Amino acid sequence: MSFEFTFDGHVVSAEPGQSIAAALIAHGRRTWRRTRTGAPRGVFCGIGVCFDCLVTVNGRPNRRACLIEVTEGDRVETQDGAGRADLAC
Ligand code: FES
Repeated sequence: MSFEFTFDGHVVSAEPGQSIAAALIAHGRRTWRRTRTGAPRGVFCGIGVCFDCLVTVNGRPNRRACLIEVTEGDRVETQDGAGRADLAC
């Protein structure tokens, strides 16, 4: 049964077992990271080797979208450059 998560604040549906990348591609997205120069990136290798697909998930940057299984309620965000985790005191 499908479920929902958010990508940059937009509700997206996914199927159980889908990676974040697969769910985003199924919804027409091709990129979800910007390099330090602003160039768009998405899936390149699709097997966890190239790190082109990095995305921020639930506040944690540098998650490989091609490997991470999306779960209900996940908050997925476009990552800029090296990403940045929220600083907790
Ligand atoms: S696409 Fe290469 S690590 Fe995810």
